[in-house]
Parts: sequence; C-alpha cells; structure tokens
Amino acid sequence: MKFTGQVAIVTGGGSGQGRATALLFAQEGAKVIVGDLNDKGAAETAHLINRQEGGQATAVKVNVTKADEVQGLIDTALAHYGRVDILINNAGATLFKGIEETSEAEWDRILDTNLKGVFLGCKSAIPAMRRSGGGSIVNIASVAGLIGMPQHFAYCAAKAGVIHLTKSLALDHGNENIRINCICPGGVLTPMLGEVIDVHNPAQIERVGKQHALGRIADPEEIARVSLFLCSPDASFMTGAAVTVDGGIAAGRMGHIHSR
Ligand SMILES: NC(=O)c1ccc[n+]([C@@H]2O[C@H](COP(=O)([O-])OP(=O)(O)OC[C@H]3O[C@@H](n4cnc5c(N)ncnc54)[C@H](O)[C@@H]3O)[C@@H](O)[C@H]2O)c1
Repeated sequence: MKFTGQVAIVTGGGSGQGRATALLFAQEGAKVIVGDLNDKGAAETAHLINRQEGGQATAVKVNVTKADEVQGLIDTALAHYGRVDILINNAGATLFKGIEETSEAEWDRILDTNLKGVFLGCKSAIPAMRRSGGGSIVNIASVAGLIGMPQHFAYCAAKAGVIHLTKSLALDHGNENIRINCICPGGVLTPMLGEVIDVHNPAQIERVGKQHALGRIADPEEIARVSLFLCSPDASFMTGAAVTVDGGIAAGRMGHIHSR
C-alpha cells in the first residue's frame, strides 16, 4: 500500500475519473475526501470506499468555483483526518459551441469550473501541505489544453490555462517539497463524454476512438493510475510536468497523406 497514513482530496470525485481515482487511492491505503457539486455522487463514491476492508472516506458537497466552499473542503480534511497530503483537482465541465453561440455566462462557467477551481484548490491546499512537510497536487487538464479543437475554444483555453498554472506553481513550491503536475487525458469513457456523443452507440464510440493512435478511448482507471503514479514516491523527481495520457491524439494527425 503506497499511501498508508496519507490523506487525499479528489474534486469531482462523484463520477467518472474522479470516482476511479478516489477508489484507487483508497485501495492503496489513503484516507479520501470526496468533493463534488453532486453530493449524491460523492456520497456513493464514499460509500463504495467505506464498505471496503479498511476503507475510510468522507463525502463533501463543494462547488469548486467558490473560495469559501473550497476552503471548507480542505478544513473538513483537516478536521476529520488531521492533514492533507494529496489534492487531485479533477472537477470539470465541457462545452462544444462556436464563439458566436457562446454566452458570457457559458464562458464564465467553463473558465470558472476548469481553471478558477484549480486555482482555488491549490490556494487552499498548499498551506495545509506545507504544515504536513510537503505534498503532491495533480491537476486534470486535457489534450484540449495542448491542441485546438473545433467548437471547443472555451474548454481548450481553460485547460491550456491549467497547464501553465501547474508549471508556474511548481516553480513557486518545489522548495517546500510540494510537487505539482498535471495530466492531459484524451477521450475517456465517462458521463462527460456522454454530453457530446451517444456512449451507448458503439459506432459513435468507435468513431471517437479512431481519432486516437491506439484506436480507442480510455477507461477512467487508465487516467486514475497516472494520478496515483504522480503522487507516489516513484515520481519523486517530477514536478511541473504536463503528462499526456491521450492514446496518441496529440502525437500528430491520424490518416495518410499518400494515396498508395
Ligand atoms: N471524459 C473525457 O473525455 C475527458 C478528457 C480530458 C479531460 N477530462 C477532464 O477530466 C476531468 C474529470 O471529468 P470526467 O470525464 O470524469 O467527467 P464527469 O462528468 O464524469 O465528472 C466530472 C465531475 O465534476 C463535477 N463538477 C462539475 N462542476 C463542478 C463544480 N463546480 N464543483 C464541484 N464539482 C463539479 C461533476 O459533478 C462530476 O461529478 C475533468 O476535469 C474533465 O475536464 C475529461
């Protein structure tokens, strides 16, 4: 067990990659705070952990765009478990629209959820990590933060911001033994993908899968395992990294130019 005695906070832990991440950290011995705007989803994840042998989890309703609620999330971890070692800033929201159809409110929601939420999470967790002698933060960005995507400009801008926020904070806090990295996933089979395609239609899953060099989309656990690695001693010399876990989307354009 790699994380025995450690306390991990996962935002957006009530669904998809966040739930898979919370479950993996718990299996490796961490006590987990599951934060989500969807309190039912967070409670379900905590229940799945607590019914496992030795599992310890607490669900917290949190809106990551509100500073007082994010501080409350960290305070709950301190009150229940006495320390904060790991923060996975995973909560996110997507939008596929052109700029003329996108309202100011939609722009604010996408930037606030994906980028401001990461800012607030880091801001509240870093003082607690410093008191514990260090820590590890993983921000969930996206391959959309590395390359542009049609009708996806607000999300792409927010996730690109997450990557640079990560690199800058890594410089500021390395000397405090706080490592800060981010992950850029490609397509992952979660409810978020279901907002864009019909995930029950194999042809649509296959079409999105073919945009990846590996020819398929990811299972949430394949992303969660990278968060686990980044927070483990195996990644002890990693900080400020943007780890691409995208099945090859950002490696280049799929398809042949030549006709033979
Ligand atoms: N699914 C993909 O293909 C994909 C690809 C690249 C990156 N990502 C990123 O991965 C992360 C996890 O997404 P997922 O795919 O598991 O999607 P998901 O929709 O299953 O999970 C997102 C979770 O975030 C929560 N959330 C949304 N707004 C919130 C807020 N303001 N405060 C607190 N919680 C909030 C939701 O309630 C939900 O439980 C996101 O940051 C997403 O942008 C997803």
